[in-house]
Amino acid sequence: MKNLLNGIKRTSNRRSFMKRSIVAAGAVTVGSALFGHELPAFAEEKSGRLTRGDAAILRFLAAAEILETDLWQQYNELGGIQDQEVPGGSGNPTYTAALSVLDGDMAQYIHDNTEDEFTHQNFINAYLAAKGADTVHLDHFRTLPSSKATGAQQIGRLTNLMQLTVDTSWWTRYRARTKNPDLDPHFNFPQAVPGLAAGQFPAIPRTDDDLSPDKHIQAIANTAGFHFGTIEQGGTSLYPSLAQRVTDTEVLRILLSIGPTEAFHFQTWQDKAGNAPALTDPTNGLVFPDLNAPPFGGENFQTNLIMPEPVPFLSRKFPVCSIIRPTQTRGAAMGAVKALTDDGLFIGQSPEFFALLRDLAEDADEARRARD
Ligand SMILES: [Fe+2]
Ligand SMILES: [Fe+2]
Repeated sequence: MKNLLNGIKRTSNRRSFMKRSIVAAGAVTVGSALFGHELPAFAEEKSGRLTRGDAAILRFLAAAEILETDLWQQYNELGGIQDQEVPGGSGNPTYTAALSVLDGDMAQYIHDNTEDEFTHQNFINAYLAAKGADTVHLDHFRTLPSSKATGAQQIGRLTNLMQLTVDTSWWTRYRARTKNPDLDPHFNFPQAVPGLAAGQFPAIPRTDDDLSPDKHIQAIANTAGFHFGTIEQGGTSLYPSLAQRVTDTEVLRILLSIGPTEAFHFQTWQDKAGNAPALTDPTNGLVFPDLNAPPFGGENFQTNLIMPEPVPFLSRKFPVCSIIRPTQTRGAAMGAVKALTDDGLFIGQSPEFFALLRDLAEDADEARRARD
């Protein structure tokens, strides 16, 4: 019962040790990670003045935001605007031009989304620290290679944008009028770009060899255009899903204030993805269909339906409602980890990375809203 009051069940010693070793905070340094025997037997992340559940949710979100920042930074170095707000790259004119086919302002939007992610990660960790809670640092895992194309800086990355399997089912999930993933968990929402979900494709040029032929670099830009939507709709669901188990109203305010910025992003990217030109990549056969023509088209695919269609919500006894979906809270953090992993975003990462991510997600999913 005490566990319930604390907002979270005590984690096992093994999991706690591993995480404590990698989540650097306060007195726990990389040095002590190397000398794990110095850690107390029951080492567990510090929650400070937060409930354990709130700290676990914020730590998982910090990790998610660090990963988002890492992938957006790679996009910005090659296809965004290069400035002091988002430093590091020097831009790739051919890739930037292919992205601009989706919208003349793509470089600006990519830059702004990237800057937003930096602020999310920095804010959440700073808040955890201010409350005396352990923060999340993943620098240890920046081991994946950068693109070798002109414009990218050569540093270790957390995420891999060069072998993506992009789930584009959000396209029809937000257009379907009778199916809600929370009420119909086994319904398969059709993909907007079936080919993207059935192979591994680069969303950034891997080397300058990827800059031609034209249809190949355009396919890479189209892949990025849909991947932007995939990532940001994930965040759009994650925040309301986790907010339901937050205890403190200030922590709730953080989730309710960051979450809708993810929806801002998603809405923008959904609109832009609809402008991705229909084409077949001559190098690998990847097809981007015309979503406004048969066998696509209609309410499930037409590209100007960029606002959510109403759908049954909570129960079919209520009138349909236009909402974010899914927002079911059970297993939401682990679901996010699975979606990002299935995306191919972590191909090449170490077993320790996956173990840490799963561990942070488990703790977030164990969090319970404390009742007074
Ligand atoms: Fe974010
Ligand atoms: Fe985001």
